[in-house]
Amino acid sequence: MELGTVVCKDDTPNTTIFYFVATKESEVKRGLFVQTNTTEGLLIGRIEEITKTNRYFMQPETISNYETNINLHFPTDKWEFLLCKVYCLGILNKIVRKANYPVSPGETVKLAENKNLERLFKLDEQGLKIGNLSGHNLEIRLNLNRLFQKHLAILALSGAGKSYAATVLIEELLNRNDKQGKVGIIIIDPHGEYSCFAYDENFSQKTTLINGRDIRIGIPHLSNYYYKLFLQNLSFAQERDLIKIIDELKKTEDVFGIKEIIQKIEESENIKQATKDVLISNLYSLDSLRLFGYYDIPSINNLIVPGQISILDISDITDDQKKKMIVAYFLRELFNRRIKRKIPPFIAFIEEAHNFAPEGSSKENFSKGIIIKMAREGRKFNALLCLISQRPVHLSTTSLSQCNTFMFLKITNPYDLKHISESSEGITSELQKQISSLDVGEAVLVGEASSFPLFVKIRKKKVMNLETNKSLEEECIEYAEKKENRKKDVKELMGK
Ligand SMILES: Nc1ncnc2c1ncn2[C@@H]1O[C@H](COP(=O)(O)OP(=O)(O)OP(=O)(O)O)[C@@H](O)[C@H]1O
Ligand SMILES: [Mg+2]
Repeated sequence: MELGTVVCKDDTPNTTIFYFVATKESEVKRGLFVQTNTTEGLLIGRIEEITKTNRYFMQPETISNYETNINLHFPTDKWEFLLCKVYCLGILNKIVRKANYPVSPGETVKLAENKNLERLFKLDEQGLKIGNLSGHNLEIRLNLNRLFQKHLAILALSGAGKSYAATVLIEELLNRNDKQGKVGIIIIDPHGEYSCFAYDENFSQKTTLINGRDIRIGIPHLSNYYYKLFLQNLSFAQERDLIKIIDELKKTEDVFGIKEIIQKIEESENIKQATKDVLISNLYSLDSLRLFGYYDIPSINNLIVPGQISILDISDITDDQKKKMIVAYFLRELFNRRIKRKIPPFIAFIEEAHNFAPEGSSKENFSKGIIIKMAREGRKFNALLCLISQRPVHLSTTSLSQCNTFMFLKITNPYDLKHISESSEGITSELQKQISSLDVGEAVLVGEASSFPLFVKIRKKKVMNLETNKSLEEECIEYAEKKENRKKDVKELMGK
């Protein structure tokens, strides 16, 4: 489809920018991809900006002379035209490379053909179908290896569609067959946004949903590392006494819990009373979390299954430390098993990643260490991360800089925009502006997964909708109705 003709304007056309005047009937839009011939081959570009001009209205004096009647005297509408500024992405030969020569003025500009865009973005026939290229009728099929060559970050403000986009990605991962390679998935779900997979008949067979209140960390096989991590107030000597007791218990008992450790400390004749008091009070507060038991629930060895998801729904846990302990323990154990190749390759989707791996001090944040470790070393073992966050500025820079594909949905906070442009290459100030003007469900992919910023309208999800996002009005009405019904029930019961 022809869109217009290249013109000379200022010092263009040059190797990075050209302008074209749009034909009257063409429906040009900002963000559309265009193609035009050059001496080097086919040039692909993206419409960055569109200006409307009309020479009749360029002189304020003329307008003031004619006041509002200028349209009656001159064919003003015939002189209105659209001028489109195009950013040159590259010349499409066997490989895509930067242009060395500009396009010639007078050359025809066309809408980029899908086959050319597929080559430009290195789309994969067998890839993950996450939506359509914004403004084009082109399905985006992302190559899995490129998307997860390292880690992925999904960043946007609240309500922009992060969890929705992650859900679509998960649907695609679950639909892969053996030949394509199935990857195991674990989701850290602090808001219960992914339980829909467990209730949908098309996905329930592939889903294990674990409720936060059922999760347990088994004490008998818990390594000493976790006592040091979870009981940070202990002095070196106190820690040593505790480890000694636990080692003794491990030798004599197959099954024991915190209560048995406390009992053993109380009975010990080698530990000073003051140390005993500190250890026992620390162990009691650990026990009060109701997180530690005789064995792991869920069992770590069964948590990762190729082509299936395990959801740790920790939305019913109010204690922040407990949530972080769960993430610290299960991720570390999975990672250690993956290093030894005891479990299949997996991707860990971490919602609210800024809470589990915040920037700044990490002492009290049990989960930060393992997330950073996985961010740094996970790629070698195909233990991969998908970090999801609405506050990138609070997310650890180390883990963010280890992601090499970013999916941005709408972000408006200037601090967040500055932070992401510092953490990843290729985020120009122009792209920052575009990120801040995206609509809900519109994303831009930057990094390894696509050679150029890829604007995607995320497709509708297939999994059933579990209405977790009720509006204020809906929830107030529902609450009042429930209260009214309860009153009626009581009256009926009392025979009134
Ligand atoms: N691609 C999309 N297509 C249709 N609707 C969408 C899309 N993306 C998001 N939405 C709508 O926007 C709502 C909010 O999306 P979502 O819950 O994914 O936001 P979020 O970024 O995860 O927010 P939060 O940070 O609060 O968790 C969804 O409930 C859905 O109605
Ligand atoms: Mg969300």
